[in-house]
Amino acid sequence: MKKDVEVYLKEKRIFSPSKELVENSNVKKWMDKQNIKDYDALLKKSQDIEWFWGEVAKDLISIGDYEKVLDWKLPYAKWFTGAKYNIVQDALDRHKDSDKIAYIFEGEPGEVENTTYKQLYGEVCKLANALKELGVKKGERVGIYLPMIVQLPVAMLACAKIGAIHSVVFSGFSAKAFQDRMIDCEAKVVITCDSFYRNGKTVPLKKQTDEALEKVDCVEKVIVYQRTKEEVSWNKNKDLWWHDFVEKQEMECETEKTDANDTLFFLYTSGTTGKPKGIIHAHAGYALGISLTLKWVFDLKENDVWWCAADIGWITGHSYIVYAPLILGVTSLMYEGAPVCPQPDRWWELIAKHKVSVLYTSPTAIRLFTRYGEEYPQKHDLSSLRLLGSVGEPINPEAWMWYYKYIGNEKCQIMDTWWQTETGSHVIAPLPITDLKPGSATKPLPGFSAAIFNEKGKEVENGGGNLVLLKPWPGMLRGIYKEPERYQKTYWDQFKNVYSAGDIARQDKDGYFWIQGRSDDVLSVAGHRVGNSEIESALVSHPSVAEAAVIGKPHPIKGESITAYVIVKKGIKLNDALKEELRNHVAEEIGKIVKPQEVLFVSDLPKTRSGKIMRRIIKAKALGEEVGDLSTLANPEAVEEIGNAK
Ligand code: PRX
Repeated sequence: MKKDVEVYLKEKRIFSPSKELVENSNVKKWMDKQNIKDYDALLKKSQDIEWFWGEVAKDLISIGDYEKVLDWKLPYAKWFTGAKYNIVQDALDRHKDSDKIAYIFEGEPGEVENTTYKQLYGEVCKLANALKELGVKKGERVGIYLPMIVQLPVAMLACAKIGAIHSVVFSGFSAKAFQDRMIDCEAKVVITCDSFYRNGKTVPLKKQTDEALEKVDCVEKVIVYQRTKEEVSWNKNKDLWWHDFVEKQEMECETEKTDANDTLFFLYTSGTTGKPKGIIHAHAGYALGISLTLKWVFDLKENDVWWCAADIGWITGHSYIVYAPLILGVTSLMYEGAPVCPQPDRWWELIAKHKVSVLYTSPTAIRLFTRYGEEYPQKHDLSSLRLLGSVGEPINPEAWMWYYKYIGNEKCQIMDTWWQTETGSHVIAPLPITDLKPGSATKPLPGFSAAIFNEKGKEVENGGGNLVLLKPWPGMLRGIYKEPERYQKTYWDQFKNVYSAGDIARQDKDGYFWIQGRSDDVLSVAGHRVGNSEIESALVSHPSVAEAAVIGKPHPIKGESITAYVIVKKGIKLNDALKEELRNHVAEEIGKIVKPQEVLFVSDLPKTRSGKIMRRIIKAKALGEEVGDLSTLANPEAVEEIGNAK
């Protein structure tokens, strides 16, 4: 039995919202309409989840007639059963005549292009017709490998419009990672581009796509958008230029009448064991979960300029750059490039130039900016900002304070939002009416129900343990593609009848949640959640390597940096050149963000008797901490070697 989580952090500061923020907030207006007097009453009343979600849906999505709000057959939830609903109705079709700007796009080289809702509609219809011409049918998969350009939301919406399922792969992932995902989801068509700008250079995405698809049979056609006009190799039987094939299509396309619970997309997320999981999300519940949370947590209004500075390749971008802002009809900023290119003040320049009013980013980015110092934001007029947000990792109280002081000028509340690829939308997060404590994501949102369970499955009211969700919620994942048993085992087997998030957290005496990280071995590098096994598999795929284990060491900017312990095959010479080769190999196999900071050679790795590598012990030893009980190990002597590894 694992010990319960201990509590170390003691943060006492409280930041209350201004009266003006509270009075004008979207959530307060809804509470007034419902005669709900305060935050506590709202949280309580919303625990009647069928009433709550049915009621809020009326203002947010055009759900039409349905049988039941919720059909809950553990571990599967269906929302708005019997309804016909396609998210595109609300994200696109209802704004089709609007001249409001949907996206302000700024490329890394500096060009700015606005896309109105009307233009977006036309672009989506053209691509949807192109996909139809290629024979893509409802329920078939389209792989999308695009950077942060407007064609990425266009591609996602085009798939959704015809009822196809999109599977977006982060453009920073390598050809190999893209290949694995395309094979798993059995994509029929892929949408990519020639190359794109990142950090003053170009990234050859078409080349990577070619490499990835060389031996993939399911992909019949590749649509290529021309972003940089760099030369690319061309397979005329397979490749189609967007500017030829898509441009000539009609600007009207009927939206497929999908069932409310039909699949909208798969998004692969790294697991602790084995291959990435294809997380499934469906149309209606997801649409409601993300639109309510964006409207209430970030309080978006008609004139806001919203900037979610994540990448669309992750769930944050799917939910809060693409679908939710479009459902709410707001204007979003989209920036293609690296945060500190050409200077560390690029973001602050963007905020001032485009008058961004709400900024949503990650603790990693904030830590990066703190390293460069406050003189960079201070060079720019950031007075357009009225709210800030954070997601992806626990935000350290001091990073929170820096964000509050130098970016928000001590007048913007910081919305620290806890959620996951699996949850689809925010789950634990403040509202504009919530008092904040730096480092806490505060309380579960209305309509959500979270708790901390100890290892025995007993609720812990004031202390640490496993974060669980007690009731289903609309944006809840609908399973793992092709792996129902893994779905059950990963989320529903640890404790009876509740969802295990796999995170550890504590709840304080006011009921505030403090997230303490993953309970397993997933690494968090520069805001990205990466499974250790993927990195280890990449190492082992090198001809010199027999076995490998990776751990994360705390890193002031990236969150964690990766240390790899490697056992080489017999006869292989150990030297620095090989270390460098292995680091580069990982970068090529799965992407630069997971390139290990250090590679150390060992002759053995601590393992359980059943042969499982004990990363927790490796990490403790590497950090000079207490390693604890070694009696479960098959080879305790291997621990000593970790400490001396070179
Ligand atoms: O460990 C939690 C951490 O990120 C995990 C989810 O990662 P992913 O599926 O990639 O989605 C990231 C964007 C939603 C969680 O299990 N996490 C996310 N947000 C927070 C967080 N940890 C602490 N505080 C947060 N606000």
